[in-house]
Parts: sequence; structure tokens; C-alpha cells
Amino acid sequence: MPTGLLGIEELSRGEVEAILHRARTFQPLQHQSYKKLDTLRGRMIVNLFFEASTRTRTSFEIAAKRLGADTVSITASGSSVSKGESLVDTLNTLAAMRPDAIVMRHAASGAPYFLAHHLAIPIVNAGDGTHEHPTQALLDALTILDHKPALEGLRVAIIGDIAHSRVARSNVHLLAKFGVDIVLCGPATLLPPELSAIATGVTLTNDIREAIEGADVIMMLRVQLERQHDPPLQAGEYFHFYGLRLDHMALAKPDAIVMHPGPINRGRELTSEVADFQQSVILNQVENGVAVRMAVLERVVGAHVEAARQKSGAVRESGLGI
Ligand code: NCD
Repeated sequence: MPTGLLGIEELSRGEVEAILHRARTFQPLQHQSYKKLDTLRGRMIVNLFFEASTRTRTSFEIAAKRLGADTVSITASGSSVSKGESLVDTLNTLAAMRPDAIVMRHAASGAPYFLAHHLAIPIVNAGDGTHEHPTQALLDALTILDHKPALEGLRVAIIGDIAHSRVARSNVHLLAKFGVDIVLCGPATLLPPELSAIATGVTLTNDIREAIEGADVIMMLRVQLERQHDPPLQAGEYFHFYGLRLDHMALAKPDAIVMHPGPINRGRELTSEVADFQQSVILNQVENGVAVRMAVLERVVGAHVEAARQKSGAVRESGLGI
């Protein structure tokens, strides 16, 4: 049984709550002048990113360091992957150096799941293809809870390139566990109907105004051109139909917040006025990324150490140990 964090789908509501609760205790630390703890002192976290990243990679690295761990960050372009080494061989090579966890991002949906079943080291999924991005959904939930008393009863509109968004998928799994009313909105070609089967509270619409109507949270998504062979709409057309403008905000609840996982493309998914206005929490999401990733790393490394301790105890008890 893998001890890392692969997706939100397989977490229980209680596990999500436990991570958020722990992350909340790390939030004040981010504002102190001295930010370092020694919870993971002596541990080594490897960050292995096969896809571009600014926020996720940096915040995993900062989170590990704030817990006192050592880190090594590797990108595919600077590794032996560019010399033709397979994913399994790369991971086995890194595992042979005995890190305590591997954080990985990969373009193939399912890649971290496959590896987690072959390696004894915990793997934390930092985004796999169009599938899941669990720490993003956790930091999004933490950010929503910084502004709203509870997740239950909220109406959350997720707007944009839903089809290619691991952020949308992980958020749907998380929010559905709390009975949130979720509206997914985008052009028909970017709105997979099967997502409405995840929970009864998920509805789909192609109309941005309908999605925003009465929303407590508006979550905008980037158009993932790197995953689209034949984009259905030109940039201007996309913005015309699915770009968030300040006048749209009149349709939402007066205290609605605007979120975006980043990187944002101003003038494509949202206007600058919306990105920078006071109800935009885009940078709060980034800030919460560190607290959430501290909670996740502490949890997965702690669980792995505990599992190893129990295993060695069991061997000793059976008389096989020295
Ligand atoms: C997201 C991702 O990589 O899935 N970014 C992120 O992690 N903050 C969303 C995106 O790239 O559009």
C-alpha cells in the first residue's frame, strides 16, 4: 500500500480535514521572521519535475526546507531523461539514493500511481497529466476556508479548460466530499460530461453567466494549450465567451472570491482588473501552498517512517532480526 499522496479521490473527508487542520497550524509560521522547524531534520526530499512549474516546485521545496529537510530538485531537461532513460529507471536510480519522499510532476496521467506501486518510497503527486493535482485542491480548500466559514453549502463555479485540468478534477473530488454545489463551465469541447458523475452536486454549463450566478467562489482555469492539439476557440473568441470581467462579478454573491491556480494569462482567462481586485485571492493561494505542502510532507514522511518502524519491530518479534 503506497504511503504517499497520489490523489484526492482516494482520500476520505476525514483525511482531507486532518491535512487542512495541520496546514492551518503552519500558516502563522509563514509570517514569522524565523520560519524553520526541525520536524523533518535529517530527511531528504527529491523534487522531480518533468513539466514546467514555478509555484508548485518552489513551494514544495520551501515547505520541505521549512520543516528542516534537505531537498534536491531535478527537472527532466537537466537529467538523464534527456539521454533516453526510462521513467522507471530514473525513479529506481533516485530511490537507490534512499530519499525519504519523491515529489513528482509528469505529463502522463497515472505516472505517479504506477511508480508508487513499484517503489517503497512515498510519492507525492505534484500533477499527473490531466488527472489529479492533490496539493493544489488542498491549498484551494484552505484558501476558501480563510474567507468562508465552511465548505458545506457553498456554490463554486470552476470555469475554463476543464477537460485538461487536473486542478479541476482534484477540486471536484475534494469539494464533492463536503457537499459543495459545483458548477463546471467551459466550451462543450472542453467540458467532459463524465465529471458530473463524480457527485450529485456537480452540474455543467456552457454559459459563464449561468455559472457565476450566485457563486461564492469563482475558480478560473488556464487554457492548457500544451495539451490541446486543435484548440476549439481562438484566444479572442475564448476571452469573449469565457473570460472573467469585472462586470460579471455583479452576478456572483457580493463577497464572492476569485481564484486561479496560476500561471494566469491576463486578457485570455480574466482581465487584469479582476486578477488584481480586492476579492481576488490568487496570491493567497500561492501563500497557502507552502503551509499545505508542509502538512502533506510531514504526513507522508511520518507515515513512511512509522510503517518502517513497525515492519522492523515485526521482524524482530518473529526472531528474524538481529
Ligand atoms: C496548474 C497545473 O500545473 O496543473 N498550475 C499549478 O500547479 N499552479 C494549472 C496550470 O498549469 O494551468
